Amino acid sequence: MKGIVLAGGSGSRLHPVTRAVSKQLLPVYDKPMIYYPISVLMLAGIREILVISTPVDLPAFERLLGDGAELGVSFSYAEQAAPNGLAEAFLIGAEHVGDDTAALVLGDNIFHGQGFSTLLEREAARLEAEKGCVLFGYPVRDPGRYGVGEADPSGRLLSIEEKPARPRSNRAITGLYFYDNDVLDIAATLSPSARGELEITDVNRAYLDRGDARLIDLGRGFAWLDTGTHESLIEASQYVQVLEHRQGVRFACLEEIALAKGWITADQAYLLGERQASSGYGDYVMDIARRAGAATTS
Ligand code: DAU
Repeated sequence: MKGIVLAGGSGSRLHPVTRAVSKQLLPVYDKPMIYYPISVLMLAGIREILVISTPVDLPAFERLLGDGAELGVSFSYAEQAAPNGLAEAFLIGAEHVGDDTAALVLGDNIFHGQGFSTLLEREAARLEAEKGCVLFGYPVRDPGRYGVGEADPSGRLLSIEEKPARPRSNRAITGLYFYDNDVLDIAATLSPSARGELEITDVNRAYLDRGDARLIDLGRGFAWLDTGTHESLIEASQYVQVLEHRQGVRFACLEEIALAKGWITADQAYLLGERQASSGYGDYVMDIARRAGAATTS
């Protein structure tokens, strides 16, 4: 499965904060926002990841993430000239996906919950074996702000609507989508919606029409956090801060995930931490590497 992180857009709802800095590079407590969606793809076992952003912002993502080799993954980069819609990710990323299955995650979506890695790996593996798409639903108080889905008890998607005035359920469709390879053909045949965008909801509706779409519920034990407003952004930071301080672990630590997946050795992880040693984040990476058996003098 190939991964795509869509991290473009104008960030206009957060102006002036995002006038000179991409929204997806803003800090969510102790790391840039894009670390969180990248961690989701890595937890799913995806090692080839395309980062899509605006022509102006893309170089900053490259500076932050590099080619991924030191994490045992591959990051590549592509421009989205204008915010023409989420489904454009599959036109821009067609070559990257090739004849594989694909996972798209929005660069401003933050997920956290016990057993998430197992769930992601299971669904990614299932999609390799079966056709269709997998969407992840989350109960919210204000579903009309999102894509909204309804599913039968077996998880088969029954309806999907984008920002409906009268939502048929409280299940928002989160910004994480798993697709079989047909997504490339489906995206290629879309026309822009009334708001002028290639809508991911239209892609999902194509799978729904074939009876090939599944909606997995992320229940109460999960957090799916919003970063769309100044308030929700600070709440996301506070959520991460509270959990990390209480538990003494960090989440969305890319070095830790690469180490846990066996993509880098403890010694390699230690060096990555040492390079950022003046921050608590670097100390944490060195610490987990030491505990995993890194040969160190300290
Ligand atoms: O977050 C989940 C929601 O994301 C889903 O429930 C909706 O079905 C889906 O349409 C989307 O809704 P949003 O209103 O949040 O989409 P928005 O236009 O804000 O774009 C989401 C992120 O993707 C945002 O950080 C900007 C980026 N983006 C957006 C567009 C339209 C791009 O990188 N390129 C684009 O062309």
